[in-house]
Amino acid sequence: MTGHPALVLRANYFGDPIASRALAALLDDIFGIDVTILDRLGGPDPTGVPFAWFDASSTCIANISAFSMPLVINGNFTRAAGLQSGAVRPEYRGRGLFRSVMEAALDYCDSEGFEAVTLLTDKPALYEPYGFWALTQHRFIGPAPTGGRAAATRRLDMASDADVTFLRRLLNARRPVSDRFAPLRQVEMFLFNAALMPDLRLDFMEENGAVIAWQQSEEGTFELFDVAGAQIPTLADVITSLRITPSRIRVHFAPDHLDWTGEAVADDGDMVLMLRGADGLHPEHLFALPPMAEF
Ligand SMILES: CC(C)(COP(=O)(O)OP(=O)(O)OC[C@H]1O[C@@H](n2cnc3c(N)ncnc32)[C@H](O)[C@@H]1OP(=O)(O)O)[C@@H](O)C(=O)NCCC(=O)NCCS
Repeated sequence: MTGHPALVLRANYFGDPIASRALAALLDDIFGIDVTILDRLGGPDPTGVPFAWFDASSTCIANISAFSMPLVINGNFTRAAGLQSGAVRPEYRGRGLFRSVMEAALDYCDSEGFEAVTLLTDKPALYEPYGFWALTQHRFIGPAPTGGRAAATRRLDMASDADVTFLRRLLNARRPVSDRFAPLRQVEMFLFNAALMPDLRLDFMEENGAVIAWQQSEEGTFELFDVAGAQIPTLADVITSLRITPSRIRVHFAPDHLDWTGEAVADDGDMVLMLRGADGLHPEHLFALPPMAEF
């Protein structure tokens, strides 16, 4: 059975504040995530198009949201969408509600001409029937490079409205961090993820106009999550400019713009990146979606 007599299917309802708040409540109840923190960061992704079932009292019962996430894959621009916020309230599961919102979202993506659709999930089997396949992601590990040039840096603070505005500008004009696989533009998720990462450091390298998103792990590893800006400095310049001497480096995206290589190690965690698109659309070289773009 699809749907329920007392439920209403609504598409593209982000203009309605009551419905948007109802989705925020669903995501808080199911995932324990507070999406309203985006309000302080400049608002939700303007390209977001949600599909949801609501009950008579406007409670959001089931949802999936599509949003535009243009990608570079194998050096080529790919018009891609992402799917996120897929959830059904427990008492309504097993009735095909998720299937119906997925079908509505995928019809939308196809009719809008998106060449690819991506998602992140811990339940890949749920998405295989819709034509998604899993991509293996890799992190790149190796010794710290030496011989970099020290440039001036400025620490940005997610609690500062001025710094958030500054970051938005950088993110809107960024160069993709890798040509193998990377978003061209992904402003809202970067800010949202940054706000949720207490140990994250955001250091702006003025000379390159790039912000370095990183943290130091307990065992002294430099974890590089993203480099967002018009130019991408070499890893050696990043390390020297940050005035740190890490024992080793882990880069969480393909380091093809960093003038450095590391040993590629496949992810073995629960979260799987999935893709749906034309036959043969597949990154040719090892890569990862930068953690700041996770959605
Ligand atoms: C996963 C979830 C969205 C499924 O919702 P639902 O309304 O029960 O799903 P449906 O009834 O529409 O089922 C659609 C299909 O998915 C299958 N399915 C449901 N849960 C599944 C799971 N965990 N793994 C694999 N397949 C699953 C169903 O068997 C059904 O297959 P069928 O059409 O061949 O019968 C829901 O259980 C949920 O909200 N879970 C918690 C949040 C979550 O995990 N979200 C998705 C992760 S990204």
